[in-house]
Amino acid sequence: MSSRRQFLGTLSAGALGALWINAAATRTVQAAVARAGGRSPEDLARDEDFWFQVQQAYTVDRSMINLNNGGVSPTVRVAQEAMRRHYEHANKAPSRTMWQQQDPQVETVRTGLADAFGCDREEMAITRNASESLEILIYGIDLKAGDEVVAAALDYPRMLNTYRQRELRDGIKLNLIDLPSPVTDAEAVVAAYEAALTPRTRVILCSHVIFATGQIMPVRALCDLGRRRGIPVIVDGAHAFAHLDFRRDDLDCDLYGTSLHKWLTAPHGTGFLYVRRARIGDIWPLMAAPEPRGTDIRKFEEIGTHPAANRLAVAEALGVYGALGAARKLARLRHLRDRWIARVAGDRRVRFATKLDDAHTGGFTTVEIEGIEPSPLTGYLWQQHRIIVTPIDYGGVRGIRVSPNVYTTVAEVDLFADVLEAVLANGLPSGQ
Ligand SMILES: Cc1ncc(COP(=O)(O)O)c(C=O)c1O
Repeated sequence: MSSRRQFLGTLSAGALGALWINAAATRTVQAAVARAGGRSPEDLARDEDFWFQVQQAYTVDRSMINLNNGGVSPTVRVAQEAMRRHYEHANKAPSRTMWQQQDPQVETVRTGLADAFGCDREEMAITRNASESLEILIYGIDLKAGDEVVAAALDYPRMLNTYRQRELRDGIKLNLIDLPSPVTDAEAVVAAYEAALTPRTRVILCSHVIFATGQIMPVRALCDLGRRRGIPVIVDGAHAFAHLDFRRDDLDCDLYGTSLHKWLTAPHGTGFLYVRRARIGDIWPLMAAPEPRGTDIRKFEEIGTHPAANRLAVAEALGVYGALGAARKLARLRHLRDRWIARVAGDRRVRFATKLDDAHTGGFTTVEIEGIEPSPLTGYLWQQHRIIVTPIDYGGVRGIRVSPNVYTTVAEVDLFADVLEAVLANGLPSGQ
Protein backbone atom coordinates (compact mmCIF):
# COMPACT_ATOMS: atom_id res chain seq x y z
CA MET A 1 0.00 0.00 0.00
CA SER A 2 2.73 2.40 0.92
CA SER A 3 4.31 2.22 -2.55
CA ARG A 4 0.92 2.86 -4.14
CA ARG A 5 0.36 5.82 -1.87
CA GLN A 6 3.80 7.14 -2.70
CA PHE A 7 3.02 6.73 -6.39
CA LEU A 8 -0.27 8.59 -6.08
CA GLY A 9 1.46 11.24 -4.01
CA THR A 10 3.72 12.06 -6.95
CA LEU A 11 0.80 12.87 -9.26
CA SER A 12 -0.75 16.31 -9.53
CA ALA A 13 -4.49 16.74 -9.02
CA GLY A 14 -4.95 17.19 -12.77
CA ALA A 15 -3.01 14.05 -13.58
CA LEU A 16 -5.09 12.13 -11.08
CA GLY A 17 -8.26 13.40 -12.72
CA ALA A 18 -7.00 12.12 -16.05
CA LEU A 19 -6.13 8.79 -14.44
CA TRP A 20 -9.69 8.42 -13.19
CA ILE A 21 -11.15 9.13 -16.56
CA ASN A 22 -8.82 6.81 -18.44
CA ALA A 23 -9.17 3.99 -15.96
CA ALA A 24 -12.86 3.96 -15.42
CA ALA A 25 -15.08 5.82 -17.89
CA THR A 26 -17.46 3.86 -20.02
CA ARG A 27 -16.42 3.78 -23.63
CA THR A 28 -19.75 5.25 -24.71
CA VAL A 29 -19.58 8.32 -22.49
CA GLN A 30 -15.93 8.89 -23.27
CA ALA A 31 -16.47 8.57 -27.00
CA ALA A 32 -19.50 10.85 -26.93
CA VAL A 33 -17.59 13.52 -24.99
CA ALA A 34 -14.67 13.25 -27.40
CA ARG A 35 -17.01 13.78 -30.35
CA ALA A 36 -18.65 16.76 -28.63
CA GLY A 37 -15.45 18.76 -29.11
CA GLY A 38 -15.56 22.29 -27.78
CA ARG A 39 -19.34 22.75 -27.73
CA SER A 40 -20.79 24.61 -24.77
CA PRO A 41 -22.64 22.61 -22.07
CA GLU A 42 -25.87 24.47 -22.91
CA ASP A 43 -25.55 23.58 -26.60
CA LEU A 44 -24.74 19.97 -25.82
CA ALA A 45 -27.68 19.77 -23.40
CA ARG A 46 -29.98 19.75 -26.47
CA ASP A 47 -28.10 17.13 -28.43
CA GLU A 48 -30.13 13.94 -28.13
CA ASP A 49 -27.51 11.87 -29.99
CA PHE A 50 -24.98 12.79 -27.32
CA TRP A 51 -27.33 12.00 -24.44
CA PHE A 52 -28.43 8.74 -26.03
CA GLN A 53 -24.86 7.54 -25.50
CA VAL A 54 -24.94 8.64 -21.86
CA GLN A 55 -28.29 6.92 -21.32
CA GLN A 56 -26.70 3.61 -22.37
CA ALA A 57 -24.37 3.82 -19.37
CA TYR A 58 -27.33 2.90 -17.13
CA THR A 59 -29.30 -0.34 -16.76
CA VAL A 60 -32.64 1.22 -15.82
CA ASP A 61 -35.99 -0.39 -16.58
CA ARG A 62 -37.52 1.89 -19.21
CA SER A 63 -41.00 0.53 -18.55
CA MET A 64 -40.96 2.85 -15.55
CA ILE A 65 -40.23 6.58 -15.70
CA ASN A 66 -38.11 7.33 -12.70
CA LEU A 67 -38.29 11.00 -11.77
CA ASN A 68 -37.14 10.40 -8.22
CA ASN A 69 -33.38 10.45 -8.51
CA GLY A 70 -33.19 12.81 -5.55
CA GLY A 71 -34.17 9.93 -3.27
CA VAL A 72 -31.66 7.46 -4.62
CA SER A 73 -30.31 6.93 -8.13
CA PRO A 74 -29.54 3.81 -10.10
CA THR A 75 -25.85 2.94 -10.03
CA VAL A 76 -24.06 3.55 -13.32
CA ARG A 77 -23.45 0.28 -15.18
CA VAL A 78 -19.64 0.18 -14.89
CA ALA A 79 -19.84 0.73 -11.15
CA GLN A 80 -22.35 -2.13 -10.80
CA GLU A 81 -20.02 -4.39 -12.76
CA ALA A 82 -16.99 -3.35 -10.74
CA MET A 83 -18.89 -3.89 -7.53
CA ARG A 84 -19.83 -7.42 -8.55
CA ARG A 85 -16.23 -8.21 -9.45
CA HIS A 86 -14.93 -6.79 -6.18
CA TYR A 87 -17.55 -8.67 -4.20
CA GLU A 88 -16.67 -11.98 -5.83
CA HIS A 89 -13.00 -11.36 -5.21
CA ALA A 90 -13.69 -10.46 -1.58
CA ASN A 91 -15.40 -13.80 -1.11
CA LYS A 92 -12.41 -15.87 -2.18
CA ALA A 93 -10.85 -15.50 1.28
CA PRO A 94 -12.15 -12.27 2.81
CA SER A 95 -9.65 -11.94 5.65
CA ARG A 96 -6.99 -11.72 2.97
CA THR A 97 -8.75 -10.55 -0.20
CA MET A 98 -11.05 -8.01 1.44
CA TRP A 99 -9.16 -6.86 4.51
CA GLN A 100 -5.63 -7.04 3.19
CA GLN A 101 -6.03 -6.38 -0.52
CA GLN A 102 -9.21 -4.41 -1.03
CA ASP A 103 -9.49 -2.25 2.07
CA PRO A 104 -6.12 -0.55 1.38
CA GLN A 105 -7.22 0.08 -2.22
CA VAL A 106 -9.91 2.37 -0.86
CA GLU A 107 -7.14 4.96 -0.63
CA THR A 108 -7.41 5.38 -4.39
CA VAL A 109 -11.08 6.26 -4.05
CA ARG A 110 -10.23 8.73 -1.29
CA THR A 111 -7.86 10.47 -3.68
CA GLY A 112 -10.46 10.53 -6.45
CA LEU A 113 -13.15 11.97 -4.19
CA ALA A 114 -10.77 14.60 -2.82
CA ASP A 115 -9.82 15.52 -6.37
CA ALA A 116 -13.48 15.88 -7.40
CA PHE A 117 -14.41 17.91 -4.31
CA GLY A 118 -11.25 20.01 -4.36
CA CYS A 119 -9.71 19.14 -1.00
CA ASP A 120 -6.69 17.26 0.26
CA ARG A 121 -7.18 13.50 0.45
CA GLU A 122 -6.22 13.62 4.14
CA GLU A 123 -9.44 15.63 4.64
CA MET A 124 -11.70 13.06 2.98
CA ALA A 125 -13.43 10.19 4.83
CA ILE A 126 -15.49 7.59 2.97
CA THR A 127 -18.77 6.77 4.68
CA ARG A 128 -21.94 4.81 4.00
CA ASN A 129 -24.18 7.77 3.25
CA ALA A 130 -24.89 11.43 4.04
CA SER A 131 -26.66 10.45 7.26
CA GLU A 132 -23.52 8.82 8.61
CA SER A 133 -21.30 11.73 7.50
CA LEU A 134 -23.57 14.31 9.08
CA GLU A 135 -24.22 12.35 12.27
CA ILE A 136 -20.48 12.09 12.78
CA LEU A 137 -20.47 15.89 12.81
CA ILE A 138 -23.69 16.36 14.75
CA TYR A 139 -22.62 14.02 17.54
CA GLY A 140 -18.92 14.71 17.16
CA ILE A 141 -18.95 18.40 18.11
CA ASP A 142 -19.12 18.79 21.91
CA LEU A 143 -22.29 20.48 23.15
CA LYS A 144 -23.47 20.90 26.72
CA ALA A 145 -26.83 21.72 28.28
CA GLY A 146 -27.98 25.17 27.23
CA ASP A 147 -25.90 25.26 24.05
CA GLU A 148 -27.83 26.15 20.92
CA VAL A 149 -27.87 25.03 17.30
CA VAL A 150 -29.36 26.99 14.39
CA ALA A 151 -30.83 25.14 11.40
CA ALA A 152 -33.72 25.60 8.96
CA ALA A 153 -37.11 23.95 9.34
CA LEU A 154 -36.65 22.72 5.74
CA ASP A 155 -33.44 20.84 6.52
CA TYR A 156 -33.55 17.06 6.20
CA PRO A 157 -35.64 15.43 8.97
CA ARG A 158 -33.01 12.89 10.03
CA MET A 159 -30.47 15.62 10.64
CA LEU A 160 -32.97 17.70 12.61
CA ASN A 161 -34.04 14.59 14.54
CA THR A 162 -30.43 13.96 15.48
CA TYR A 163 -30.32 17.38 17.12
CA ARG A 164 -33.76 16.75 18.67
CA GLN A 165 -32.30 13.60 20.20
CA ARG A 166 -29.49 15.72 21.61
CA GLU A 167 -32.13 18.10 22.99
CA LEU A 168 -33.65 15.21 24.96
CA ARG A 169 -30.38 13.64 25.95
CA ASP A 170 -28.03 16.56 26.46
CA GLY A 171 -30.35 19.50 27.12
CA ILE A 172 -29.28 21.52 24.10
CA LYS A 173 -31.69 23.74 22.17
CA LEU A 174 -32.43 23.59 18.44
CA ASN A 175 -33.55 26.90 16.92
CA LEU A 176 -35.20 26.53 13.53
CA ILE A 177 -35.63 29.32 11.06
CA ASP A 178 -38.39 29.39 8.48
CA LEU A 179 -37.24 29.81 4.92
CA PRO A 180 -39.59 31.27 2.33
CA SER A 181 -40.27 29.06 -0.65
CA PRO A 182 -39.29 30.17 -3.14
CA VAL A 183 -36.27 32.00 -1.76
CA THR A 184 -35.78 35.15 -3.81
CA ASP A 185 -33.35 37.09 -1.66
CA ALA A 186 -30.20 35.27 -0.55
CA GLU A 187 -29.14 38.18 1.64
CA ALA A 188 -32.41 37.99 3.55
CA VAL A 189 -31.79 34.28 4.12
CA VAL A 190 -28.32 34.94 5.53
CA ALA A 191 -29.80 37.72 7.68
CA ALA A 192 -32.38 35.26 9.05
CA TYR A 193 -29.62 32.85 10.13
CA GLU A 194 -27.70 35.73 11.68
CA ALA A 195 -30.76 36.93 13.56
CA ALA A 196 -31.22 33.45 15.04
CA LEU A 197 -27.70 33.38 16.51
CA THR A 198 -27.37 33.99 20.24
CA PRO A 199 -24.34 34.01 22.54
CA ARG A 200 -25.12 30.31 23.18
CA THR A 201 -25.09 29.25 19.51
CA ARG A 202 -22.40 26.64 18.99
CA VAL A 203 -23.25 25.15 15.55
CA ILE A 204 -25.05 26.13 12.35
CA LEU A 205 -26.47 23.35 10.16
CA CYS A 206 -27.42 24.24 6.60
CA SER A 207 -28.37 22.36 3.46
CA HIS A 208 -26.48 23.10 0.26
CA VAL A 209 -29.63 22.19 -1.68
CA ILE A 210 -32.93 21.88 0.19
CA PHE A 211 -34.24 18.34 -0.33
CA ALA A 212 -37.93 19.32 -0.34
CA THR A 213 -37.67 22.08 -2.92
CA GLY A 214 -34.38 21.95 -4.81
CA GLN A 215 -33.47 25.39 -3.47
CA ILE A 216 -29.75 26.23 -3.74
CA MET A 217 -28.72 27.87 -0.48
CA PRO A 218 -26.20 30.71 -0.03
CA VAL A 219 -23.71 28.34 1.57
CA ARG A 220 -20.65 30.46 0.96
CA ALA A 221 -22.21 33.42 2.77
CA LEU A 222 -23.37 31.16 5.63
CA CYS A 223 -19.87 29.73 6.01
CA ASP A 224 -18.50 33.30 6.06
CA LEU A 225 -21.05 34.19 8.72
CA GLY A 226 -20.05 31.19 10.84
CA ARG A 227 -16.37 32.04 10.51
CA ARG A 228 -16.96 35.69 11.48
CA ARG A 229 -18.84 34.59 14.57
CA GLY A 230 -16.58 31.64 15.46
CA ILE A 231 -19.37 29.09 14.93
CA PRO A 232 -18.76 25.87 12.94
CA VAL A 233 -21.08 25.40 9.97
CA ILE A 234 -22.10 21.86 9.00
CA VAL A 235 -23.06 21.73 5.33
CA ASP A 236 -25.50 19.00 4.29
CA GLY A 237 -24.49 18.38 0.68
CA ALA A 238 -26.59 15.27 0.07
CA HIS A 239 -28.31 16.93 -2.89
CA ALA A 240 -25.44 19.00 -4.19
CA PHE A 241 -22.33 16.91 -4.82
CA ALA A 242 -22.19 15.75 -8.48
CA HIS A 243 -25.37 17.75 -9.14
CA LEU A 244 -24.17 21.36 -8.89
CA ASP A 245 -20.91 22.44 -10.49
CA PHE A 246 -18.76 23.54 -7.54
CA ARG A 247 -15.61 22.82 -5.55
CA ARG A 248 -14.75 23.16 -1.89
CA ASP A 249 -13.17 26.56 -2.34
CA ASP A 250 -16.34 27.96 -3.92
CA LEU A 251 -18.03 27.36 -0.56
CA ASP A 252 -15.00 27.84 1.68
CA CYS A 253 -16.58 25.31 4.04
CA ASP A 254 -14.93 23.37 6.85
CA LEU A 255 -17.43 20.52 7.26
CA TYR A 256 -19.38 18.85 4.45
CA GLY A 257 -21.25 15.55 4.20
CA THR A 258 -22.89 13.92 1.21
CA SER A 259 -24.20 10.66 -0.20
CA LEU A 260 -22.72 9.31 -3.40
CA HIS A 261 -25.71 7.14 -4.33
CA LYS A 262 -27.84 10.13 -5.29
CA TRP A 263 -26.25 12.40 -7.87
CA LEU A 264 -22.93 10.66 -8.46
CA THR A 265 -24.81 7.41 -9.26
CA ALA A 266 -22.22 5.47 -7.25
CA PRO A 267 -23.10 2.17 -5.51
CA HIS A 268 -25.80 2.32 -2.86
CA GLY A 269 -24.42 2.76 0.62
CA THR A 270 -21.64 5.22 -0.18
CA GLY A 271 -20.99 8.77 0.96
CA PHE A 272 -18.22 11.08 2.03
CA LEU A 273 -17.34 13.34 4.90
CA TYR A 274 -15.03 16.27 4.35
CA VAL A 275 -13.42 17.89 7.40
CA ARG A 276 -10.92 20.70 6.98
CA ARG A 277 -7.56 19.48 8.25
CA ALA A 278 -7.35 21.95 11.14
CA ARG A 279 -10.72 20.76 12.48
CA ILE A 280 -10.23 16.99 12.38
CA GLY A 281 -8.76 16.83 15.87
CA ASP A 282 -11.74 18.69 17.40
CA ILE A 283 -14.39 16.22 16.20
CA TRP A 284 -15.10 12.91 17.92
CA PRO A 285 -15.63 9.87 15.69
CA LEU A 286 -19.08 8.28 15.94
CA MET A 287 -17.60 4.87 16.69
CA ALA A 288 -14.58 4.78 18.94
CA ALA A 289 -11.18 4.99 17.27
CA PRO A 290 -7.75 4.28 18.79
CA GLU A 291 -6.99 8.01 18.77
CA PRO A 292 -10.34 9.77 18.93
CA ARG A 293 -8.77 13.23 19.17
CA GLY A 294 -6.22 12.39 16.50
CA THR A 295 -5.92 14.15 13.18
CA ASP A 296 -6.04 11.14 10.86
CA ILE A 297 -9.27 11.45 8.85
CA ARG A 298 -9.52 7.63 8.85
CA LYS A 299 -10.67 7.75 12.49
CA PHE A 300 -14.15 8.48 11.08
CA GLU A 301 -14.07 5.18 9.16
CA GLU A 302 -13.69 2.93 12.25
CA ILE A 303 -17.00 1.16 11.74
CA GLY A 304 -16.00 -2.50 12.00
CA THR A 305 -16.24 -5.00 9.16
CA HIS A 306 -17.99 -3.64 6.10
CA PRO A 307 -17.93 -4.45 2.38
CA ALA A 308 -15.11 -2.99 0.34
CA ALA A 309 -16.84 -3.66 -2.99
CA ASN A 310 -19.25 -0.73 -3.01
CA ARG A 311 -16.57 1.70 -1.83
CA LEU A 312 -14.07 0.57 -4.45
CA ALA A 313 -16.66 0.85 -7.21
CA VAL A 314 -17.10 4.55 -6.40
CA ALA A 315 -13.97 4.90 -8.59
CA GLU A 316 -15.99 3.87 -11.65
CA ALA A 317 -18.78 6.33 -10.90
CA LEU A 318 -16.20 9.08 -10.46
CA GLY A 319 -14.68 8.11 -13.78
CA VAL A 320 -17.96 8.48 -15.62
CA TYR A 321 -18.72 11.77 -13.89
CA GLY A 322 -15.24 13.05 -14.67
CA ALA A 323 -15.60 12.11 -18.33
CA LEU A 324 -19.03 13.74 -18.58
CA GLY A 325 -18.03 16.87 -16.68
CA ALA A 326 -19.93 18.74 -13.98
CA ALA A 327 -20.98 21.64 -16.22
CA ARG A 328 -22.36 19.37 -18.97
CA LYS A 329 -24.29 17.31 -16.46
CA LEU A 330 -25.84 20.32 -14.74
CA ALA A 331 -26.77 21.94 -18.06
CA ARG A 332 -28.55 18.76 -19.16
CA LEU A 333 -30.42 18.43 -15.86
CA ARG A 334 -31.59 22.02 -16.20
CA HIS A 335 -32.60 21.41 -19.80
CA LEU A 336 -34.77 18.45 -18.75
CA ARG A 337 -36.22 20.50 -15.90
CA ASP A 338 -37.11 23.41 -18.17
CA ARG A 339 -38.67 21.10 -20.73
CA TRP A 340 -41.44 19.80 -18.46
CA ILE A 341 -41.83 23.10 -16.65
CA ALA A 342 -42.48 24.98 -19.90
CA ARG A 343 -45.52 22.78 -20.50
CA VAL A 344 -47.32 23.64 -17.24
CA ALA A 345 -45.88 26.93 -15.97
CA GLY A 346 -48.54 29.00 -17.76
CA ASP A 347 -51.38 27.55 -15.69
CA ARG A 348 -52.30 29.96 -12.88
CA ARG A 349 -52.84 27.04 -10.45
CA VAL A 350 -49.24 25.91 -10.83
CA ARG A 351 -46.52 27.19 -8.54
CA PHE A 352 -42.88 26.18 -8.13
CA ALA A 353 -41.10 25.95 -4.79
CA THR A 354 -37.96 27.57 -6.19
CA LYS A 355 -37.16 30.52 -8.40
CA LEU A 356 -36.21 28.94 -11.71
CA ASP A 357 -32.92 30.63 -12.45
CA ASP A 358 -29.37 29.35 -12.16
CA ALA A 359 -28.70 31.07 -8.86
CA HIS A 360 -31.60 29.31 -7.15
CA THR A 361 -32.27 25.95 -8.82
CA GLY A 362 -30.29 23.09 -10.29
CA GLY A 363 -31.88 20.08 -11.93
CA PHE A 364 -34.93 19.56 -9.77
CA THR A 365 -37.77 21.47 -8.18
CA THR A 366 -41.11 20.82 -6.53
CA VAL A 367 -44.32 21.76 -8.28
CA GLU A 368 -47.39 22.68 -6.25
CA ILE A 369 -50.79 22.52 -7.93
CA GLU A 370 -53.65 24.36 -6.32
CA GLY A 371 -56.51 21.98 -5.54
CA ILE A 372 -54.48 18.80 -6.14
CA GLU A 373 -52.97 17.00 -3.19
CA PRO A 374 -49.41 15.62 -3.54
CA SER A 375 -50.12 12.05 -2.37
CA PRO A 376 -53.09 11.24 -4.62
CA LEU A 377 -51.25 12.80 -7.58
CA THR A 378 -48.16 10.69 -6.83
CA GLY A 379 -50.36 7.58 -6.55
CA TYR A 380 -52.11 8.36 -9.83
CA LEU A 381 -48.83 8.94 -11.69
CA TRP A 382 -47.53 5.58 -10.52
CA GLN A 383 -50.67 3.48 -10.78
CA GLN A 384 -51.87 4.76 -14.14
CA HIS A 385 -48.62 5.76 -15.85
CA ARG A 386 -45.73 4.08 -14.00
CA ILE A 387 -44.18 7.49 -13.38
CA ILE A 388 -42.24 7.83 -10.12
CA VAL A 389 -42.13 11.18 -8.31
CA THR A 390 -41.87 12.12 -4.63
CA PRO A 391 -44.79 13.66 -2.74
CA ILE A 392 -43.64 16.50 -0.49
CA ASP A 393 -45.64 17.72 2.48
CA TYR A 394 -42.97 19.25 4.65
CA GLY A 395 -42.32 22.61 6.24
CA GLY A 396 -45.18 24.25 4.38
CA VAL A 397 -44.22 22.85 0.96
CA ARG A 398 -46.97 20.75 -0.59
CA GLY A 399 -46.29 19.37 -4.04
CA ILE A 400 -44.46 16.73 -6.03
CA ARG A 401 -40.68 16.77 -6.36
CA VAL A 402 -39.54 15.95 -9.88
CA SER A 403 -35.89 14.90 -10.16
CA PRO A 404 -34.74 13.46 -13.52
CA ASN A 405 -31.14 12.34 -14.01
CA VAL A 406 -28.71 12.13 -16.92
CA TYR A 407 -30.18 8.84 -18.11
CA THR A 408 -33.67 10.36 -18.36
CA THR A 409 -34.85 10.80 -21.96
CA VAL A 410 -36.78 13.77 -23.33
CA ALA A 411 -39.52 11.31 -24.33
CA GLU A 412 -39.90 10.36 -20.67
CA VAL A 413 -40.02 13.97 -19.56
CA ASP A 414 -42.54 14.75 -22.32
CA LEU A 415 -44.78 11.87 -21.27
CA PHE A 416 -44.73 13.18 -17.71
CA ALA A 417 -45.65 16.66 -19.00
CA ASP A 418 -48.51 15.17 -21.10
CA VAL A 419 -49.94 13.53 -18.00
CA LEU A 420 -49.55 16.65 -15.88
CA GLU A 421 -51.30 18.73 -18.55
CA ALA A 422 -54.14 16.22 -18.62
CA VAL A 423 -54.45 16.38 -14.83
CA LEU A 424 -54.61 20.17 -15.02
CA ALA A 425 -57.31 19.94 -17.70
CA ASN A 426 -59.43 17.18 -16.17
CA GLY A 427 -58.39 16.79 -12.52
CA LEU A 428 -57.60 13.41 -11.02
CA PRO A 429 -60.00 10.55 -11.76
CA SER A 430 -62.47 9.96 -8.94
CA GLY A 431 -61.24 7.48 -6.38
CA GLN A 432 -57.64 8.61 -6.84
C1 LIG B 1 -30.69 16.96 2.42
C2 LIG B 1 -30.50 15.51 2.78
N1 LIG B 1 -29.65 15.21 3.75
C3 LIG B 1 -29.40 13.94 4.13
C4 LIG B 1 -30.03 12.89 3.49
C5 LIG B 1 -29.74 11.50 3.91
O1 LIG B 1 -29.15 10.82 2.86
P1 LIG B 1 -28.86 9.25 3.00
O2 LIG B 1 -30.19 8.58 3.13
O3 LIG B 1 -28.16 8.89 1.76
O4 LIG B 1 -28.06 9.08 4.22
C6 LIG B 1 -30.93 13.16 2.47
C7 LIG B 1 -31.64 12.07 1.78
O5 LIG B 1 -32.53 12.25 0.99
C8 LIG B 1 -31.17 14.50 2.11
O6 LIG B 1 -32.02 14.81 1.12
